[in-house]
Amino acid sequence: MKLGTPHIKDSDRERANLLEDLVAAVNAHDRYTGSHSYRTAAYASAVAHALGYPPPAVELVRQAALVHDIGKIGIPERILRKTQELTDEDRSLLRLHPDLGVSILSRLPGTAALLPIVLHHHEHWDGSGYPLGLRGTEIPIESRIILVADSFDAITTQRPYSRMLEPAGAMEEIALCSGTQFDPLVVDALHETHEAAALDGLGPRTIRITDSEDRLP
Ligand SMILES: [Fe+2]
Repeated sequence: MKLGTPHIKDSDRERANLLEDLVAAVNAHDRYTGSHSYRTAAYASAVAHALGYPPPAVELVRQAALVHDIGKIGIPERILRKTQELTDEDRSLLRLHPDLGVSILSRLPGTAALLPIVLHHHEHWDGSGYPLGLRGTEIPIESRIILVADSFDAITTQRPYSRMLEPAGAMEEIALCSGTQFDPLVVDALHETHEAAALDGLGPRTIRITDSEDRLP
């Protein structure tokens, strides 16, 4: 979605510009997280659109997806760039990134609507996620959309010890976790966008992942 879309308020555009600047800064710090954020935002927008959301709601999902991992700026680079299996301690530190993201965003004007979405973007439909172990519709729908979009991007991107899948293979892998990790309605919407080829060309596949977090269980 372009920022010039009708029905998007000026304040939303200002917030979007601020967030894009923030992601650009993260991109300079950690190239993978920056590019991953842009692709996740594109996929999440497509899914929100497929779910029938009006433009302002799609834009909120897009903006939240852009900054969903902003808290990784506070995670040590040795963990973000690690190519071996994460230790329990590494994992505990990495799991702080939604809270760190909220801390960063809450200092910026006009971001209140983004905070719960960012905080809960690693919650799972069956309650097995973090930070609070929310389940089902307790999890903001925007967070449920971002989780699916995030995973789709992770699976279709080159990673150090997990093979990259084509979109069709990624769809199958995500479908396996529908109803456990993912909201089934969101998985259906991703499938619909994939069937419509709406996901094609939304993001480059040339960035080598240096992040060790975004894996399916
Ligand atoms: Fe994340």
